[in-house]
Amino acid sequence: MSIAEKFITMEYGPAPEDPKEAGAWLEHHGRRFDLFIGGAWRAPAAGEYFDTVDPSNGKKLAAVAQGSAADVDAAVRAARDASSKWRALTPHVRARYLYALARLVQKHSRLLAVLETMDNGKPIRESRDIDIPLVARHFYYHAGWAQLLEQEFPEYEPCGVVGQIIPWNFPLLMLAWKIAPALATGNTVVLKPAEFTPLTALVFAELCQEAGLPAGVVNIVTGDGSTGEALVKHADVDKIAFTGSTEVGRAIRSATAASHKRLSLELGGKSPFIVFEDADLDSTVEGLVDGIWFNQGQVCCAGSRLLMQESIAETLMSKIRDRMSSLRIGPPLDKGIDIGAIVARVQLERIERMVAQGVADGATCWQPQHVLPARGFYYPPTLLSNVHPTSIVAQQEIFGPVLAAMTFRTPKEAVELANNTVYGLASCVWSESINVALHVAAQLKAGVVWVNCTNMFDAACGFGGYRESGYGREGGREGLLEYMEPAWFKHTPALPPAMAVAPIQVPGQTEDRLDASTPAIDRTVKLYIGGKQARPDSGYSMEVRSPDGRLLGEAPLGNRKDIRNAVEAAHKAESWAKATAHNRAQILYYCAENLAQRGSEIAHRLAAVVGEKQAAAEVELGIERFFSYAAWADKFDGAVHNPPFRNIAIAMNEAIGTVGVICPTDAPLLGFLSLVLPLISVGNTVVAVPSEKYPLIAGALYQLFDTSDLPGGAVNIVTGYASQLLKTLAEHDDVDAIWCYGDDATVAAAKAMSTGNLKQVWTNEGRVIDWFHPKVAEGRWFLEHATQVKNIWVPYGE
Ligand code: NAI
Repeated sequence: MSIAEKFITMEYGPAPEDPKEAGAWLEHHGRRFDLFIGGAWRAPAAGEYFDTVDPSNGKKLAAVAQGSAADVDAAVRAARDASSKWRALTPHVRARYLYALARLVQKHSRLLAVLETMDNGKPIRESRDIDIPLVARHFYYHAGWAQLLEQEFPEYEPCGVVGQIIPWNFPLLMLAWKIAPALATGNTVVLKPAEFTPLTALVFAELCQEAGLPAGVVNIVTGDGSTGEALVKHADVDKIAFTGSTEVGRAIRSATAASHKRLSLELGGKSPFIVFEDADLDSTVEGLVDGIWFNQGQVCCAGSRLLMQESIAETLMSKIRDRMSSLRIGPPLDKGIDIGAIVARVQLERIERMVAQGVADGATCWQPQHVLPARGFYYPPTLLSNVHPTSIVAQQEIFGPVLAAMTFRTPKEAVELANNTVYGLASCVWSESINVALHVAAQLKAGVVWVNCTNMFDAACGFGGYRESGYGREGGREGLLEYMEPAWFKHTPALPPAMAVAPIQVPGQTEDRLDASTPAIDRTVKLYIGGKQARPDSGYSMEVRSPDGRLLGEAPLGNRKDIRNAVEAAHKAESWAKATAHNRAQILYYCAENLAQRGSEIAHRLAAVVGEKQAAAEVELGIERFFSYAAWADKFDGAVHNPPFRNIAIAMNEAIGTVGVICPTDAPLLGFLSLVLPLISVGNTVVAVPSEKYPLIAGALYQLFDTSDLPGGAVNIVTGYASQLLKTLAEHDDVDAIWCYGDDATVAAAKAMSTGNLKQVWTNEGRVIDWFHPKVAEGRWFLEHATQVKNIWVPYGE
């Protein structure tokens, strides 16, 4: 072709990246890799290997060890052996190791990028310019946290040995997201890469050796789902961090329920990409290219649902089709390629199946006339229009370069459509009006909102989901908290079984009991639902007796229906979530005032079950707890991050929604307040099951709330047997989280029963919490669990 002809067609010429170095590295290892355990390479116990393949041409790259349960066990032991020395290092020394890893990633960046592209099929432009620089950034950022750890988290300890399981879409980046915070906080690690893409993790193992990282601090065990399963089930692992499909996330939640393993899950998404009529449509189209065609759409936060305001739908669709026609699809090592190969045949078939199903559901499919390479796994960029919001392609994660387009008329409708999903990972809003964009951003149920931008990531900005997109955050300060626990909590004793009375030590407590003048029958209380007293659906009551057997009163025996009514009331109490922090603080102060006024009467009644000293302490500290959370209500602020782009990321601490609370038995008043107040102080609504030992406290509480202007439905109280009510709360899809205080069996049940909609579960892990000790029974630790961070990214500056 002559130069003149080239000017006419403006066709790209080939610009292949040289794979020589990556090939040499593979050859150097004889294209066969063992497991990295205890700082050395070990053959797998069962002697099995599997092939990893280049998806751009289907050719085998190398054979990789298939780790078995025995190999996982060896790796966990190595991590355990290394644990005490690693955590005992000074923060500065750990910071130096992380810094060394960051430098080594940069030093070997081209090898890593090329190998990543060969193993995964993503365009070299992305692995070279996005994945690997972000990997280095994560290690630098966390080297900083390692340095600051003792100053910033003096009362925290590492979890211990952490099992980490990662997917194939961003192999080395996901490794960095997991390993960097774990090491910075003093944990040791066993990481299982995805079976389709293990190679860069193996280079990383070599970098650990080169950095002189102590043996056993990082262990890499390759293998398939069964290897992951062995890691999840290993008894000596303290925490599991998982990124992958919601289905496997659910299985892991079940498998870990009966253990005390901490768990963070980063799962799927079906993220909305909302375009208003005043958006800059050309920028929007470029945003969309990054949103859905980045990494062939194999991105958990891909903007896979396009929601367009009706008035601009046709214009936008035409611009999108034009742009799709100019996307270049082909061998991913070519530097001019936009769309590379799909990771594996099985994933390609899954995409084909789902698109066919979408078309069968009524969608119209449009694809540009690209010629796909003859070999390898390729799928063209695809636009589905006329998609019904209930269609499989609007609801389920396709994980491919497929965009499902729908329209809306008003901002309200846009929000409704956007939130009409079980997921809540990310979302985009495009509008030139800052008012519209932020108004909508605030209402989106998602961990990240990108305003007029897409797929921005930074180590300083926590990333993670709402709802079935999982829980926990990666990156930022909040990401570190996933790998640490308050030291006092780690070393606290277990509660006796069956939620028996905990050995509470109230200073100076004696065995006081009320004298015979105490009325034998207190009164009959009711349930408290939607701000109204309600009789139980069952028509039954439970007797409440003092330790010496006197009948103190009767409490309603709540059942499934009562819990459902209470959840409905909690959902409707939106005014509480929308109230200003100042307003919430005022109401909590008002409650304190009213509790002070009625304190002696409440203490008098409570004394019949817990003794006078404890009752008086519960009331006194209860007043204080109201004051504490009134104080926190307008102080538990978020942050504004300055990522290294022209953006600010506004990190907001948002309420989780409706939370079911199983209160401690041992401190009927103070235990209730210690769990319910942090939740409502930040805007959650609550359905609480009070202490079975003294459910009559409900009467005192609802009188308090009624006289303090707490809106109906913000707190609902259902008395009854916690074990029965917990099930309904845990299985209810409109309950967003469970806080459960109880013995081992109770908290395991709370976790096991909450797998349905993957709600967050926060428990005492069967341990005693001293409610009478403000240092452990209130404050940030509670508030951090009562909120989830939403990062709103806004372009800033030129
Ligand atoms: P997957 O969830 O099965 O695999 C992710 C990781 O989990 C891999 O390392 C795998 O070996 C491991 N694993 C599988 N079963 C396990 C088990 N029972 N216990 C412990 N670990 C286990 O995802 P897969 O099959 O690779 O992809 C299927 C679909 O999942 C994709 O089409 C996509 O929709 C979704 N996905 C979502 C990701 C995300 O980042 N949200 C990442 C990868 C996949």
